[in-house]
Amino acid sequence: MTNAAVFELNDVSYAYRPGADALRGITLAIGAGERLALLGPNGCGKSTLQKVLAGLIFPAGRVAAFGQAITAAAMRDGRFAAAFRRRVGFVFQNADVQIFCASVLDEIMFGPLALGMAPDEARCRAEEMLAFVGIAALADRMPHHLSGGEKKKVAIAAVLAVNPDVLILDEPTNGLDPRTQRWMLEALAQLAAAGKTIITATHHLDTVSELAERVIVINEAHTIAADGCPANILQNRELLLAANLIDERYHVHLHGDDGHVHIHRHEHAPGRQT
Ligand SMILES: Nc1ncnc2c1ncn2[C@@H]1O[C@H](COP(=O)(O)OP(=O)(O)OP(=O)(O)O)[C@@H](O)[C@H]1O
Ligand SMILES: [Mg+2]
Repeated sequence: MTNAAVFELNDVSYAYRPGADALRGITLAIGAGERLALLGPNGCGKSTLQKVLAGLIFPAGRVAAFGQAITAAAMRDGRFAAAFRRRVGFVFQNADVQIFCASVLDEIMFGPLALGMAPDEARCRAEEMLAFVGIAALADRMPHHLSGGEKKKVAIAAVLAVNPDVLILDEPTNGLDPRTQRWMLEALAQLAAAGKTIITATHHLDTVSELAERVIVINEAHTIAADGCPANILQNRELLLAANLIDERYHVHLHGDDGHVHIHRHEHAPGRQT
């Protein structure tokens, strides 16, 4: 099969509690190697959609990954679930829910060992990942005693250790200092160049054109408000206002020929561009 969609969602809806929809009628195909950014206000359903894609919750409607239906029943088959989890990695919004081992090295070896890799090989792989994310010096530390940004790097290294085809990242640059944010964007660009499908939820509009070539906006009605390239979406001030992604003080400009978009906030002179 060539150019198969990695994910196909058809009329997907999800409610954590009856009557409180988190996603409503989402129909969406995501192709192999695509870099997709999910934008939308707090509570619109970005994390929920990512959990659906990661096979962690099972909505109404149809979800297929790699051409196969992803359902609670399908995932009860241990071999099917293991094969799926090997291909789809999810970095949670909050790294604390993801880390549980006694040392950083153990944390990163956990996935490879669970997939049946020999301990020596798993250790090598983990060391490679520690070097890739630049935290080799933290190998023996307790993950729960690390800073927020360090924990995020551990969570990313742990997910990358099993070399998934698809990376789902929930607000990966949140809480990171500027240098670490830059590192994250560059690491994601390298992973994209290696052919990974990368699905990122973010509130950082200024990173979107670097993170993705496709943007999906989810609105407060928990449904898709727009689906397009970053330049088109980010220049659509009405759309961004309606979806509560910017407020009246923000101005959006296009810079250069590469579709790079800058968001500016005007405190005192809302009519003038800076
Ligand atoms: N575990 C849960 N139990 C009950 N309701 C939940 C749960 N997780 C999320 N929700 C609700 O589902 C809706 C969508 O939440 P979700 O976390 O997907 O939003 P989000 O777009 O990721 O928001 P944010 O930008 O704040 O991360 C919200 O109304 C939220 O309150
Ligand atoms: Mg979220």
